[in-house]
Amino acid sequence: MARILITSALPYINGIKHLGNLAGSMLPADVWARFKRAQGHEVLYICATDEHGTPAELAAAAAGQDVRTYCDEQHLIQKQAGEAFGLSYDWFGRSSNPQNHRLTQHFAEALENNGLIEERVDRMIYSIDDARFLPDRYVEGTCPHCAYPKARGDQCDNCGRLLDPTDLIDPYSAVSGSKNLEVRDTRHLYLLQTKIEPEIRAWVDGKTGWQQLAKSIAYKHLDEGLIDRGITRDLAWGVPVTKDGFPRPGMEDKVFYVWFDAPIEYIAATEEWAEATGRTWRDWWRLDEGAEDVRYVQFMGKDNVAFHTVSFPATIIGSGEPWKTVDQLKAFNWLNWYGSKFSTSQKRGVFMDQALELLPADYWRWRLTAYGPEHADSAFTWEDFQASTNKDLADVLGNFVNRIVKFAESKFDGVVPEGGEPGPVEAKLEADLRAAVAEATEQFEAMEFRKAAQAVRAAWVLGNEYLQEAAPWTALKTDRDRAAVGVRTGLNLVALFARLAAPILPFTAPRIAASVGSTDLSWPGAAEDLLNTLPVGGVVQAQGVLFAKIEDAQVAEWSNRFGGAEG
Ligand code: MF3
Ligand code: ZN
Repeated sequence: MARILITSALPYINGIKHLGNLAGSMLPADVWARFKRAQGHEVLYICATDEHGTPAELAAAAAGQDVRTYCDEQHLIQKQAGEAFGLSYDWFGRSSNPQNHRLTQHFAEALENNGLIEERVDRMIYSIDDARFLPDRYVEGTCPHCAYPKARGDQCDNCGRLLDPTDLIDPYSAVSGSKNLEVRDTRHLYLLQTKIEPEIRAWVDGKTGWQQLAKSIAYKHLDEGLIDRGITRDLAWGVPVTKDGFPRPGMEDKVFYVWFDAPIEYIAATEEWAEATGRTWRDWWRLDEGAEDVRYVQFMGKDNVAFHTVSFPATIIGSGEPWKTVDQLKAFNWLNWYGSKFSTSQKRGVFMDQALELLPADYWRWRLTAYGPEHADSAFTWEDFQASTNKDLADVLGNFVNRIVKFAESKFDGVVPEGGEPGPVEAKLEADLRAAVAEATEQFEAMEFRKAAQAVRAAWVLGNEYLQEAAPWTALKTDRDRAAVGVRTGLNLVALFARLAAPILPFTAPRIAASVGSTDLSWPGAAEDLLNTLPVGGVVQAQGVLFAKIEDAQVAEWSNRFGGAEG
């Protein structure tokens, strides 16, 4: 059994996340955590809200709340939304917690002691009307690369380029809209990434388990040449730069940059978990204290990759301390809303809380896993959602379970029937299933979620084909034993399908299993007797509709409410 540490990119605190955020980090991390737990491994899945920086301050201001109250409320909302979606975090922490403050200051001190921090004078945008500096998202303007008129100071939402606020053309204050801006001097701490570039490159070279997308983004940044990075900001909300032992006179009003402290929260959230549960955290994170045998996997959207393959490693490597670093990095592309982007700021698309008002979590989980933005951007449309739900979930899986269970109830006294011997049809089914299960296992192992889901679906299809051929309802008229074999095999298929579905459909899988009297949701092993797991005589009982079809009227209503092709 392995020890597996999983993190998904920490969602910003500024409001409930849309389906694109879910599909690109939290959901696949959860599916994989469930897969690994079902195989019997020890899994620690950590996530948290990313609470500092300008997104939090601006959203709190827009909500008319002080930032701490805002974060308290939003953290709970996101935590509950995650649970409602079945996200099986072992811990969902907060980057504003004291553990992260301490650890962030610790890393700064270690970097300082290694000569990797330097104070520099910056020229920053100052808003005369707002009487404050405007870092990052506090300033907006036209993107110098693509001319998008609403680019933010830290990144252009249109072309994805990272920006510096002073790059923007025609900048204005995001607080007041004022264009009465000037550039002023302000002192900041810089992390001297240029000094450790060779070490970072060597570290990337050594990462054989990363996915291609992650590697290429890391090398692109390294090849362009790293720059020393400002790690402090003129903000009130965040981890203070000044503390005992790290006096930094003149920096009392400054905090660390949100992208400096946020990834440190992966570690600090583990500390939160350990304190809350009486467990230990250093054996997950310190190579000198037991973490050598941990396998660490990160999940994130592609816009986060540079921060995780270069910036955060610079902090870790620069500290000179033996921290565990990422072994495998799974990055996702964008989920689009029809032809354009989901957008939190423009409220375009469906958000996690709204989704669950429409349909249960498993419907969304299937769509976003089996047809997610894995190797290319993919679009979410109501029409595709309807088609795949009705076909995959209602027809292929739901009907199969319903049909065989109901038949056993009506013709075989609601038990797994005895009698008869499996023949060549069952032998062929078993061989085909074994191949499908092996394929699903291999694809899950490789974190190829679309392919894994297709292999799972292929197993469901084999079940349908088998029932078609064995046709116990016909056999019953002439040969009860033959019919019993068909029903028994069908019910064992139900038990198997529940296990295969469990990582993706955690709410429905236990109901499917319960319909054949099983509670086993472990992942099937290669050598298992797949069609002979249910005891003869075990009780069979339908559990009600598993998946309802999505009607055209619902598609029309939802398109109307959320926008569709024109939205
Ligand atoms: N909040 C960031 C985003 O949504 C992700 C932060 S990941 C972390 O893009 F590791 F830095 F926390
Ligand atoms: Zn741009």
